[in-house]
Amino acid sequence: MSTLTRRDFAKTVAAAGAATALSQMRVSGANERVRLGFIGLGNRGDQVLDAFLAQPDMQVVALCDLRTDYMDFAAQKAGGTPKQFKDYRQLLAMKDLDAVVVGTPDHWHALQTIHACQAGKDVYCEKPLSLCVAEGRRMVQAVRKHNRVSQVGIHRRSVPFCQEAAEVVRSGVLGKITVVRAFHIQNEWPKGIGNPPNGNPPAGLDWDAWLGPAPLVPYNPNRTFYRFRWFYDYSGGQVTNFGTHYLDFIHSALGVDAPRAVTALGGRYAQMEDNREVPDSLEILWQYPGDILVTFSQFNANAAPATGRPAEVEIRGTKGTLLLQGKGYEIVPEMISNDEFPARTPLTRPADSKYRKDAKPVLEPRRVAAQGSSSNSDTVPHARNFLDCVKSRKACNCDIEIGHRSTSATLLGNLALRTRTLLEWDAAAERVTNHEPANKLLSYPYRPGYQLPEI
Ligand SMILES: NC(=O)c1ccc[n+]([C@@H]2O[C@H](COP(=O)([O-])OP(=O)(O)OC[C@H]3O[C@@H](n4cnc5c(N)ncnc54)[C@H](O)[C@@H]3O)[C@@H](O)[C@H]2O)c1
Repeated sequence: MSTLTRRDFAKTVAAAGAATALSQMRVSGANERVRLGFIGLGNRGDQVLDAFLAQPDMQVVALCDLRTDYMDFAAQKAGGTPKQFKDYRQLLAMKDLDAVVVGTPDHWHALQTIHACQAGKDVYCEKPLSLCVAEGRRMVQAVRKHNRVSQVGIHRRSVPFCQEAAEVVRSGVLGKITVVRAFHIQNEWPKGIGNPPNGNPPAGLDWDAWLGPAPLVPYNPNRTFYRFRWFYDYSGGQVTNFGTHYLDFIHSALGVDAPRAVTALGGRYAQMEDNREVPDSLEILWQYPGDILVTFSQFNANAAPATGRPAEVEIRGTKGTLLLQGKGYEIVPEMISNDEFPARTPLTRPADSKYRKDAKPVLEPRRVAAQGSSSNSDTVPHARNFLDCVKSRKACNCDIEIGHRSTSATLLGNLALRTRTLLEWDAAAERVTNHEPANKLLSYPYRPGYQLPEI
């Protein structure tokens, strides 16, 4: 973080903020092109770039990554001559830029989003929104204070079959929802991510800049590209990685935004060889308002959960269960018999009532398959929604408050695991009410020079 001083940065973002208020008027016309900058162009940044490139009314004017090869690749795709930066603050200082897409690792999201808001840019930020609950709230405050449009990259909020599935649950057709289960069916046994030794960063990688607010540690290849997910300084493991998508869908379907309590158990039970920090086996249990139990389970891969159908999320109501898969959803009715629990007579033994011949489904079964669904194509409507909202100044499908709450639920799961406690949560105050040490872990000490700005 060298070429701009913090004071220079404060001045340039203020100027850029004023300029963007004008450019906001410029992009409000339906045919105007939104000028976008991308910060982080790795695995996900490249996918989101494709989703935006499918839209006619945007222009990629700037790229930022610590890797020149990723920027060159993106520049070729994007056409034109987007400016390239290794320091995102220089990108944010551009006046002819309306919005940014943040696709860096989780530990960078807060600083880059808040700085973007201060610079007057609208923000599309990847999920999980934040590394800890307190910084997520600070990001919400920055968006509101600077009157920015925000979209969190929980793209299923904009996918039609997921919207429809959530609506089915909200309609009450499944009866009273009692239990919801989400699964990450993968424990990465036997190879995991390996255990490479620490060493020198590859030529051209500014390791210090990659670490940013995280503690200064020696370079290890597993800590960087893609594999940062297995280390708590940069991520929260698979519950924040995949679980944020699931918890967000669950929030949307149940009409809730925060749990009342959470507990968790898990650890490295299968994968002992690699240098990960996050669990390979995990059970998190949340209690939500309305007496609903929600679980997230991570385990080995080859047998589907209890229903026999592989699902990412099961929403179990008294009348039926909705199974959400990556490519559609299904409703499986409960079978109810007229004579549900007959007493045993002296000479006969009743068959299991659930399987009695007169048992009838209480709902119509339904199976809805999405056409050609994939993480890439599913992101297109989310990108479209962001551009529409940049122009209309309306709230996006996954406005920052929504993304913050969905991320927070997963972060609280990790907090329960770390403290080995059943934590009770006051969602309005965003505080744990029964375990004060856990409240200290709602934030973390940033490296000097990388503290979050006051909002
Ligand atoms: N919505 C989804 O379905 C989805 C899917 C995958 C990843 N993600 C999220 O996307 C984010 C990135 O994950 P990934 O798999 O693309 O990781 P990645 O390591 O492949 O890419 C991250 C990129 O950020 C760059 N970077 C790091 N620090 C930077 C900085 N200070 N300034 C500019 N660039 C910097 C890296 O050089 C790298 O190219 C994560 O938060 C992840 O959870 C979301």
